[in-house]
Amino acid sequence: MDYRLLAQQLEALSEGEPSWLPLLSNAAALLDEALADINWVGFYLVQADEKGAPELVLGPFQGKIACTHIAWGSGVCGTAAAADAVQRVEDVHAFAGHIACDSASNSEIVLPIHRSGTVWGVLDIDSPSFARFSPEDQDGLELFVRVLEAALAATR
Ligand code: SME
Repeated sequence: MDYRLLAQQLEALSEGEPSWLPLLSNAAALLDEALADINWVGFYLVQADEKGAPELVLGPFQGKIACTHIAWGSGVCGTAAAADAVQRVEDVHAFAGHIACDSASNSEIVLPIHRSGTVWGVLDIDSPSFARFSPEDQDGLELFVRVLEAALAATR
């Protein structure tokens, strides 16, 4: 998988795009086209819940209908956001608190996305294969997220 090319493609499609919503929508479509052996890819964004506490809400994605709200610290996504750390999970069934949106998912990677120095959302990718995401995939996806963050910084 050529993650440098993927990052360049993201750069190209974000050029001149002033809004974050279409940027994330096309980023999800780009990842869905480029990555083999995945069944869900998309974004969860940080928002305040009715009590003003942070939670994750579903953003642009490709895949089956998914959970819409995830509590801070819950599941793989909530853990990645709360810990501000990439979660690369070889077997989601062994991850305490994993939230099963699509029963086909067996492994998952979640990467925090920052804006203005804080966690703004996460990129979540699921696979039907166990241990689909290698350390090299993690490096490549971290590059993708860095390019995405740079593009997001220029959007409203
Ligand atoms: N499995 C995730 C929930 C989101 S779905 O995979 C789309 C989790 O445990 O956070």
